[in-house]
Amino acid sequence: MARRCGLCVALDAPDLATAEAWAAAAAPSAGLLKVGLELFSAEGGEAVRRIARHRPVFLDVKLHDIPNTVAGAVRALAPLGPAWITIHAAGGAAMVAAARDAAEKAGGAARPRILAVTVLTSLDAAALAETGVAGGPVQQVLRLARLAVGAGADGLVCSPREVAPIRDALGEGPALVVPGVRPAGSAADDQARTATPEEMAAAGADWVVVGRPITRAADPAAAARAIAGALAA
Ligand code: C5P
Repeated sequence: MARRCGLCVALDAPDLATAEAWAAAAAPSAGLLKVGLELFSAEGGEAVRRIARHRPVFLDVKLHDIPNTVAGAVRALAPLGPAWITIHAAGGAAMVAAARDAAEKAGGAARPRILAVTVLTSLDAAALAETGVAGGPVQQVLRLARLAVGAGADGLVCSPREVAPIRDALGEGPALVVPGVRPAGSAADDQARTATPEEMAAAGADWVVVGRPITRAADPAAAARAIAGALAA
């Protein structure tokens, strides 16, 4: 069954003025705008409030701490109004459950959704082995995906190559958000494994995250429009 796959634009800017200009250009074509660690560290909660005037915000802060501390962070972030907050599944089931519980208590019906990162795509099998994880990334991704969804995560961030295995293992329930997406013919930048928006929509992703192909384009609004058009085709 075809899922509707939306465009999330990553606003990886050093300051809010730049991010807001990108947000205004991309908003007509985007369903979500991503505020990441760079912008949030520079501008704090004001970045979330201001970007949320353009589109719902995906707040990518990848929380990872003891359950009590992560719950406190989610409680503090929820009033800023993010639609999604990311956490690390590697924090364990109790941490994921604490984040979900804090989001429910803080946000009511419009609570932030909790999105779990499994294995960072910057870690290959050798780097994972150095951290004590044997068996390779896909096995670890599936283990952490099951743990996170079982503990209450609403969805998962995953690489293009993990969308199909996660859908096979976990079914249609969890939202899948996929960075590393590039329109055909555009530069990969530092993304090692890319896929096109059309491939990700067909594989069962709910959101593709695209940054530089839009924010560094000569015409960001047109670049966003073209990707949104490819997703809707
Ligand atoms: O510019 P680009 O399209 O590569 O941006 C992708 C965005 O997704 C960046 O904000 C990056 O931090 C984020 N991301 C990623 N890979 C992950 C998780 C997040 O590229 N595994």
